[in-house]
Amino acid sequence: MTDIKKFLRKSKLCPVCTAKKLMASTQIHLNGADRFYNGTALTPPMGWASWNLFRNHINENLIEEIAEAMKKSGLADCGYIYVNIDDCWMSSTRDENGRLRGDLATFPSGIKALAEKVNALGLKLGIYTSNGTLTCEDLPSSLYHERTDAETFAEWGIEYFKFDFCHNIPIPTNAPEISTVTLTKPGCSDGIVLHAEDAELRGDAILLTDEKMAGTGRYVTGLEAGGGSMYFNNVDIEESGEYALTLGLHKAGLKDKYLEIVVNDTDVYTLTEPGTKGFSHDGRNQITVNLKAGRNSFKFHNPVASRMDSAAKQYRNMGKELQRATRLVAEREGREEKPICFSICEWGKNRPWIWGHTAGNLWRTTPDIKPFWTSIIGIYEATVLLYKHSGVGNWNDPDMLEVGNGKLTDDENRAHFSLWCMLCAPLILGNDLRKFIRPDGTVDTENKVLKIVSNKDAIAINQDARGIQCRRVKTNGLTDVLVKPLENRELAVCLLNKGPKEMSVSFNIKDIIKESFVDLPDASEYEVYDIWEDEEFEIKASYTAKLAPHSVKLYRIKAD
Ligand code: GLA
Repeated sequence: MTDIKKFLRKSKLCPVCTAKKLMASTQIHLNGADRFYNGTALTPPMGWASWNLFRNHINENLIEEIAEAMKKSGLADCGYIYVNIDDCWMSSTRDENGRLRGDLATFPSGIKALAEKVNALGLKLGIYTSNGTLTCEDLPSSLYHERTDAETFAEWGIEYFKFDFCHNIPIPTNAPEISTVTLTKPGCSDGIVLHAEDAELRGDAILLTDEKMAGTGRYVTGLEAGGGSMYFNNVDIEESGEYALTLGLHKAGLKDKYLEIVVNDTDVYTLTEPGTKGFSHDGRNQITVNLKAGRNSFKFHNPVASRMDSAAKQYRNMGKELQRATRLVAEREGREEKPICFSICEWGKNRPWIWGHTAGNLWRTTPDIKPFWTSIIGIYEATVLLYKHSGVGNWNDPDMLEVGNGKLTDDENRAHFSLWCMLCAPLILGNDLRKFIRPDGTVDTENKVLKIVSNKDAIAINQDARGIQCRRVKTNGLTDVLVKPLENRELAVCLLNKGPKEMSVSFNIKDIIKESFVDLPDASEYEVYDIWEDEEFEIKASYTAKLAPHSVKLYRIKAD
């Protein structure tokens, strides 16, 4: 077995399995009304992040130096604008108001001050936490603190937020069993009591009796996992306003439960009910809801049927909180809104390509990248299949770049960068940008890594306004031909040699233009620009190139 195959097996990135899963999945509609849109990432975001190279060894000076190097080296002019602090920036304790704060020793000036410094360079600051109780490095995180943390980040002026998945607690698929619903005005003890036996039941919802309960002992069960729902329609309320909604519950089972209450078809309230070891058979759970004068309707159900539903809901929630927070802070401070580019990082576990566009701007498609060829190719193999899910404002994210890290050769660095450009991947550098600046303060324009990541023609393919992810039109396992339609009916073509030996790779432009997604015009000749060689030549139909091991050829083609 080749190294690549081993890597794919090990990391569960088998392309065939992924393809099968994809076929079983529902097709998404990228321009659907439920699309997450905040005006950011209209082309794949570009910047730098601390994790790939620096891991937990970060501090405010490093971040500032990187921002300065990004500016000085010319990378900012190439489009790299985000300076993202990954894991390990936070103190292990929240402040007295329950807010996250920078580590008191390594980020002593605080994150807001750092954001201001980065902004002064014309750049934007990004930050990280996890959609779990702790980050992957076991520091405080945002699950159950979404509103507070989103507001904190907005107040700090953060403009990119990566939300990881370590220490995640999924939303339960079980639902509470409901005997009564009581609506009371604050300060009043008398309320309207709705009984389970009077509810309209749909799907799997059924009425059962437990004689050990108080009252009639009747309760509704079967509201779990999207299977059943219970309704009270036409509930007359005299006065509009806030009401306490108290659920009378049948207590049973050790598992945690989750319930959504939809009031008047629009307002969704959620509650969780812990598993019970208590003696009583009846329990209660209470929330406050807003009701209108006149007839009100109530729906009770738990729509979460799977881990995927849970992840999608949690990420959507954070996306909404970020949007709410940036609006709120802009209003409060009387300044322009700074939207936060929202990066979903749940490693492709719950098929985020299906729902990611409803939750955020980009979503990781795989587990973590490593600075070696098999990792890069494994991630590419998984992501190249996901072309239909990516588009303007909502992108597949094959992870941050390793260009310039580890022992990657020049060819491998160029190939990695080219593939990410073709995939419409976020171009988030992961290397030490300070190395691009000589000790005397001048830019090392001969630095091979700088030359790669600042190649404007390669970047133009990534940043093309049409935002169409490449498709693989030809493969023999070891070599691939990828094509990506560009503006002005031009086309990017990338030839890839994944193997350890030199290989010839050919393509016929006349065959490629037959692909329905390609709109390069039919012509007698085509102008080809070889981006890495900086050479132009013409082709009529078929063309063959010799590719060194682990390398690419990257062309921009237009009809002559
Ligand atoms: C996960 C993410 C990485 C990085 C680390 C930080 O592994 O996938 O990209 O953010 O956590 O701990």
